Amino acid sequence: MAVPLLDLKQQYRALEPQIQEAVRRVFESQQFILGEEVAALEREISRALEGVHAVGVASGTDALILALMALEIGDGDEVITTPYSFFATAGAIHRVGARPVFVDIDPETYLIRTDLVLRAVTPRTRAVLPVHLFGQMVDLDPLLEMARRRGLWIIEDAAQSIGATARTNGAIAQSGTLGTFGCFSFFPTKNLGGAGDGGLVTTRDSALADRVRSLRRHGEESTYVHTRVGLNSRLDALQAAILRVKLPHLESWNAAREANASRYQELFEKAGLIGPDGPIFLPRSRTGARHTYHQYVVRARGRDDLAASLKAAGIGCAIYYPIPLHLQQCFASLRHHRGDFPVAETAAASTLALPIFPGLVEPQQEEVVDAVRRFYSR
Ligand SMILES: Cc1ncc(COP(=O)(O)O)c(C=O)c1O
Repeated sequence: MAVPLLDLKQQYRALEPQIQEAVRRVFESQQFILGEEVAALEREISRALEGVHAVGVASGTDALILALMALEIGDGDEVITTPYSFFATAGAIHRVGARPVFVDIDPETYLIRTDLVLRAVTPRTRAVLPVHLFGQMVDLDPLLEMARRRGLWIIEDAAQSIGATARTNGAIAQSGTLGTFGCFSFFPTKNLGGAGDGGLVTTRDSALADRVRSLRRHGEESTYVHTRVGLNSRLDALQAAILRVKLPHLESWNAAREANASRYQELFEKAGLIGPDGPIFLPRSRTGARHTYHQYVVRARGRDDLAASLKAAGIGCAIYYPIPLHLQQCFASLRHHRGDFPVAETAAASTLALPIFPGLVEPQQEEVVDAVRRFYSR
């Protein structure tokens, strides 16, 4: 039985009439940029995220760029981040003219090590950009405490973590609500995905929210009056209308991903593939945190051969991310070398994402685990 890495058609079939109706509504209005659909989505997401201000933008990448621009981070500034993320994280820092300063990750969660962040701060540091990778939040408490003390900003890259939570300062908080800014992506494959590119910036600061609203439309303060140079980065009404159909389902989709992760735990255990000498290391969830499993990423002995074997058996899998950011050619000017961030490099060489999407069913998961078992028993 073939098992896809992700099946978006299944999700579309289940919501087809509502999505078609949302598209029809936008065409009837002929209002394609911002407008009431985007405003309504911003209100609905704000309600879901503890009342933060929410600003719809053109992509998750632009959300990061706009957050950095709103804080006037640029030439000569340093932003501390992880070398193990999607390219946009460091790309956005570079794009505004600042320098990404990488620190290594934790080998079990693949999240940035906050103790190393604290040591990497210099007089040029303006912000820390932690990435809530694969659907799990970084422990922000030490970063928030340091940011307060040293006058730094925290920009959460929440592109992969909508709906994730963590216990911070004794209370449960949602991803994207604790930093100066939260940056989300609605790329189609995300837990909440649109029908094209889309993104969102969140903040609790109403003046900063207004600044991002202005920056997403060329820095316009009022019609044709520009006080700063921004971007053209507005969320499409069509995307907003479709995301509004999907948003009420996000909680149950995330719960289904969690249930699938628990089932993998049982199946891998039963297959004898995990444990101290096992070839597979399963994702670790931080204590007190809700992992929403945007990706289910295992570490696997002989990863490349396993991936080839799974693909040959019709099992979808993917490598996130094969080249750590510090080794990307476009960042050669940062003068990093192999060995600078060994944990990130090991993760890049040994991790593999397996199917975890909400509609995945038990026989498909059994098939995945059995294909892994067959590979290791050769
Ligand atoms: C961690 C991370 N940051 C940023 C982005 C950028 O989002 P987008 O693809 O919507 O520009 C993504 C998404 O792909 C991501 O996974």
